[in-house]
Amino acid sequence: MISFLKNKHIILGVTGGIAAYKSPDLTRRLIEAGAIVRVVMTQHAKEFITPLTMQAVSGHPVHDELFDLQAEAAMGHIELARWADAIIVAPATADFMARLARGEANDLLTTLCLATCAPIAIAPAMNQAMWKNTLTQSNLEALLAKKFLIYGPASGLQACGDVGPGRMMEPADIIEQLNAIFNTGLLAGKNILITAGPTREAIDPVRYITNASSGKMGYALADAAIEAGAHVTLISGPVNIAKPLRATCIDVVSAEEMLAAVLEKITHCDIFFSVAAVADYRLKHIFSEKMAKKAEEITLELVRNPDIVATVANLPNRPWTVGFAAETDNVLQKAKNKLINKKLDMIIANQVGNNLGFDSDMNTVTVLWEDQQKSFPLMPKQKLARELIQLTSRLSERKIVC
Ligand code: PMT
Repeated sequence: MISFLKNKHIILGVTGGIAAYKSPDLTRRLIEAGAIVRVVMTQHAKEFITPLTMQAVSGHPVHDELFDLQAEAAMGHIELARWADAIIVAPATADFMARLARGEANDLLTTLCLATCAPIAIAPAMNQAMWKNTLTQSNLEALLAKKFLIYGPASGLQACGDVGPGRMMEPADIIEQLNAIFNTGLLAGKNILITAGPTREAIDPVRYITNASSGKMGYALADAAIEAGAHVTLISGPVNIAKPLRATCIDVVSAEEMLAAVLEKITHCDIFFSVAAVADYRLKHIFSEKMAKKAEEITLELVRNPDIVATVANLPNRPWTVGFAAETDNVLQKAKNKLINKKLDMIIANQVGNNLGFDSDMNTVTVLWEDQQKSFPLMPKQKLARELIQLTSRLSERKIVC
């Protein structure tokens, strides 16, 4: 099974039922699948399994208090709710389902469930009579109506000796279900080309002109496109982050090399994302030897680099073409000008400077296309990338000929 859980932030909520003995195994499997796991336990859960066990298997301290000054100082509950890409509550007791269905926020776990925008899955586990009880069933209906994902329960012999529905779904099956959340299939079979990172323009054999792009935004888009079923080619300038596992990766250094690589790979490409912070200028003449420090002032003669995204947008059979606009001021207007002047299908306006955009883990953008726009608040680049892929798949659908 392909793991779409790689680098996903998963909150595992554990409530007070005998099936909590399966929670360490679930945690271990999540980590094996590449997820980063934070465990939240209710007070009753700790009657069945110790926080120490969950801390040991997850590699992080367990969160269990809503009003804990130390925990809030490290990662507050709202921050934790924003951090999550998905919440899985396993086991979820009848009491927890009831509190969730009523929208209560009387402990850390229910509060997180109310505060998060991430999908929430619950794996009920309880005695078969409790499961069949009409009150539990109406709570279940309320949760399903509110788009909570319900995994199981399985049927069989229960800890109390009863036989029937109410056993927690097996950890391996929960992993399969969670995996499916991230396997959106939105770009199934599409060829996506992405540029990322900075370019480096040599001054002499040891010096260069570059910028602060880390590649994080472009790499996150590559991951999200792969997750959506696309074949991804990632052309990257020099960065220090791990390559997406299932992308075809090409390393380049300068803008001219990046352009050459893009033109080589652009045929049969359905969507092109130009995320790279391409240096606008390069040296007219690169010094063949290291420049000696002699003069008080020197002048470097620069010439314009080719505009890669504009070149692609002018190709006869151009892909659906997306640019980014990194601006410190008048961001939306400047982005709109670039959308029009570079003949793009969509542009992502990125406020930069003051620790925004470049080299940060979070980003906030406004996407512009035709005469429309949509803003995305500050969020992790991975989460933003998934949002951008969703929007791209919807907007590009009309134009891409399969
Ligand atoms: O890499 P990170 O640290 O995660 O940072 C992400 C980012 C801030 C670099 C990214 O979100 C971003 O905004 N990328 C675009 C940076 C940029 O060069 O913007 P620009 O406004 O100068 O260029 C507009 C568009 O033209 C961009 O799509 C750019 O890739 C493209 N371009 C620019 C110049 C050039 N010679 N060729 C190009 O293709």
